[in-house]
Formats: sequence, C-alpha cells, structure tokens
Amino acid sequence: MNIAKVMVIGAGQMGSGIAQVCAMSGYEVILHDLKQEFVDKGLGIIDKNLSRQVEKGKMEEENKRSTLARLTTSTDLRNAADVDLVIEAAIENMDIKAKLFSELDEIAPAHAILASNTSSLPITEIAAATRRPEKVIGMHFMNPVPVMKLVEIIRGLATADEVYAVIAEMSRTLSKVPVEVNDFPGFVSNRILMPMINEAIYTLYEGVASKEAIDEVMKLGMNHPMGPLTLADFIGLDTCLYIMETLHEGFGDDKYRPCPLLRKYVKAGWLGKKSGRGFYEYS
Ligand code: CAA
Repeated sequence: MNIAKVMVIGAGQMGSGIAQVCAMSGYEVILHDLKQEFVDKGLGIIDKNLSRQVEKGKMEEENKRSTLARLTTSTDLRNAADVDLVIEAAIENMDIKAKLFSELDEIAPAHAILASNTSSLPITEIAAATRRPEKVIGMHFMNPVPVMKLVEIIRGLATADEVYAVIAEMSRTLSKVPVEVNDFPGFVSNRILMPMINEAIYTLYEGVASKEAIDEVMKLGMNHPMGPLTLADFIGLDTCLYIMETLHEGFGDDKYRPCPLLRKYVKAGWLGKKSGRGFYEYS
C-alpha cells in the first residue's frame, strides 16, 4: 500500500492543519469541505502558517510555493475517486460521520484507507458504516497540528495489522510520533485530558480559586504549557462538553459527569477562543 494522494475532509482548525503537514511532507492533498468559502478559509490558515515559517527563516519561499502547489480544493466528494487515503476531520457527530464513511466507501478506490480524526467517537462504529472495516482506522492529531508531535492511532475491532503499519509509517513521514491505542471512549488522550479539564472547571465552579490561579497552579506547578482553563478555551468548550458526554455515556460512570458550569458556558455560546469568549475574553 503506497500512499501518494490524500483527501482531508473538513477545512477547519484540525483539517487545515492536517492538510498542511501532509502537503509539507510531499503528499498530494485535496482539502475538501461542504462549501468553497470553508475551504478558502482553511487555505488562508495554511498560507498564513507557511508565511510565518518563511518570515522566521524556518522555510524557504520556494518550499512554501511547492507545498501550496500540492494542495487542491474540493466541494465534491467524488474527488475521492483516486486517492489512497482519506483523513476525515469533519464535525463530531456519529450520524454525519457514518453517512460520510458510507459514501466514501462507494467512491474511494478499493485499496484506499479511510481514517478519522475523531477525538472520541468509536472507530469500530464508524467502520461498520463501510464494507471495508479492515481499512478504517483512527488518526487523532493534536491541536495545533503543525506543532504537536503526537498522532494517536486507534485500531477499530476489525482494523488490519497491515493498515495499522501503513498509517504508523505515514505518520512518521509527517514527522509525527504514532502511538497505538485501542478503541475505547476518549481513547487515551481525551480519557485523561478531559477529566482534568472538567475538574479544573469544577474547581472554579466551587470557588476554590480564580480562573487565573487555577491556570497558574497547573502551569507553574506541573509545567503544563497552558493552564487547563486556557486549554479548554483553545480546544473549544463545546468540544470539551461533547467529549465529556461521550465518556459519561460510554462508561456509564458519574466520575465523567460534565461540570454544570461547562454546560452553562456552552449554552451561552461562550465556546472559547473561536467565539471570542470562554473562561477568558479574546479580541
Ligand atoms: N498553528 C501553527 N503553529 C503554531 C500555532 C498554530 N495555531 N500556535 C503556535 N504555533 C507555533 C508558533 O509559530 C511557534 O513556532 P516556532 O517554534 O517555529 O517559532 C511555536 O508553535 C510556539 O508558539 P509560541 O511561541 O507562540 O507559543 P507557545 O510556546 O506558548 O506554544 C503552543 C504554543 C504550542 C500552543 C503551547 O502553548 C502548547 O503546547 N499548548 C498546549 C497544546 C495542547 O495541549 N494541545 C492538545 C489539545 S487536545 C487536542 O488537540 C485533542 C483533542 O481531541 C481535544
């Protein structure tokens, strides 16, 4: 299985980052989304990131040009007809993902691997929407994708060993470190990260300390690059809530109960950095 051409579905924060690192590593990339304006926005993020690298002297102008030349855009899923790998980074909704994977199964060539960047939804269930569950796998990148080294690779119940090996190797070509995990709610990353963030929100909710103090304790005391409340804003509070709900439902254990304050913020539309306000305000 040789991977040369990749379709990335979803041109948001994660999808554009994934498309960027794939194109930088020499893959031909199709960045796909529902509307051209979404794809254009994604391309804009990539252009800005690459320009910053050039300004800092970390990338040659020529390298930026060739990276951008390897990127094409799409709003028609039929463009997946000649790709070797699809990496889906669409909205976190099982019905939408199942429909997408079932369509991709019809369109993509028989040899193509279908990967999902889902942060917590079961790969096994996504795979069940296709007739090639052995070629379905989780490739969970971390935000910001161009910077973070990890790709959590999730094996569904039916994922073939060969498919795992191809995807682990492909992740290395992106200068990432693949880590193998099995398919359980939240995998490893979010099973551990989200309860910590949720606990930080409870700490604020119960008045134990101010938001600044909570973040400062974790930054200076534990050497975390961002405090948990800043990180929650960065990830998106709606995403944090969704993952906590997935853990709560998946394990049926109240230790994963989302903090009421998190629910309140999401209901208010305070979704973090992307909406201009979360635990902190952003201009
Ligand atoms: N896109 C691309 N590059 C970015 C970036 C972005 N959004 N943000 C920062 N960078 C780059 C900067 O350009 C800089 O690059 P150089 O070293 O080449 O100059 C580098 O990252 C460091 O940036 P800064 O000096 O501006 O800031 P920093 O040192 O504070 O680092 C950070 C920023 C990397 C985001 C750091 O704060 C960090 O690691 N935060 C934690 C991130 C984290 O935990 N991510 C995982 C979230 S969970 C997830 O993604 C999974 C999920 O399912 C929810």
